[in-house]
Amino acid sequence: MKITVLPGDGIGPEVTREALRVLEAVAAEHSIQVETTAALIGGTAIRETGSPLPDATIAAFDGADAVLLGAVGDPAYDHLLPNQRPEIGLLKMRQHLGGFANLRPSKAYDSLIDSSPLRREIFEGTDLLIVRELLGGLYFGEPRGFEDGDTSAFNTMRYSVAEVERVARVAFESARGRKKKVTSVDKANVLETSQLWRKTVTKVAADYPDVELEHLFVDACAMHLVTNPTRFDVLLTENLFGDILSDEAAVLTGSLGMLASATIGGEIDLYEPVHGSAPDIAGKDIANPIGAIASVAMLFRHTADNESAAAAIESAIERVLAEGHRTADIAASGRPISTTAMGDLIIGYAASPDQARSTASN
Ligand code: IPM
Ligand code: MN
Repeated sequence: MKITVLPGDGIGPEVTREALRVLEAVAAEHSIQVETTAALIGGTAIRETGSPLPDATIAAFDGADAVLLGAVGDPAYDHLLPNQRPEIGLLKMRQHLGGFANLRPSKAYDSLIDSSPLRREIFEGTDLLIVRELLGGLYFGEPRGFEDGDTSAFNTMRYSVAEVERVARVAFESARGRKKKVTSVDKANVLETSQLWRKTVTKVAADYPDVELEHLFVDACAMHLVTNPTRFDVLLTENLFGDILSDEAAVLTGSLGMLASATIGGEIDLYEPVHGSAPDIAGKDIANPIGAIASVAMLFRHTADNESAAAAIESAIERVLAEGHRTADIAASGRPISTTAMGDLIIGYAASPDQARSTASN
């Protein structure tokens, strides 16, 4: 596997370092050859080259099977227009790589249930997957801009049938490997794009008679996520709704730092934790690397098609949490461990399967 690694901004480099160590150890264990190349993106790239997505980074995607990203975002550029900010590097890269389906799983770990802001009886058993459309909607719709001497501004939400259809198929396929239920999220009582969305998803559903489909307005969905999250299996959403709902779903698990994502369907797959660059804690070796490490598990599952390598990482994470090890974001009491220490513990279990197996059978 050829992987382009983009540590990015803030805590990106720290969590990516741990993710890479896990990647290399588990690849070696499973006899998978891995070749990695590092490149710049975001605020770090602006600082060094003047561009949030330098040509050298785009060149580094050539021939890659996957991209592993840390985080993008830097408050030093908060005053800039959207098309000059670090985030535009991420959005342009997503377009360049072509993945349109962003998978964001959110699951209740038994040992972390009491870190959730929800009561145990509401949250216990939550296991959902958000399938977020990643290349359309308000993020990319034209026209956009400021007008009338900056006294007004506009964005365009636009979706084609083809764009909805391809991401809907990913949601239904994913549901087949899970609890066979798709909840399609929209605002069809107000938006034309949502009416197109609902009609298209309903049509695609006919090809998946074994999967149950329900439609839910986005406001109701936001409510059900905190009152009854176990009713969900796969949540299918457009770009902006998915951005918002996935932060909500992530924090239910106790910390945004826990959540991984995979973006598939394009030329080159993209893996990134759901969390941002968290500049306030950057460089302190206290960030939670689990979101980045779990993204590596998704890389083994989707790009390397190696379920046992993916499962080795996921059960190592589960085991380390069950043993009570916590980074600061999930440590309710007791002394939190560092980013590096969390990485060490997960590598210890993920890359020595004998040890993991003997514990699993205990
Ligand atoms: C995410 C992030 C990005 C997004 C930002 C950094 C552009 O919030 O991956 O969820 O909005 O897609
Ligand atoms: Mn987001």
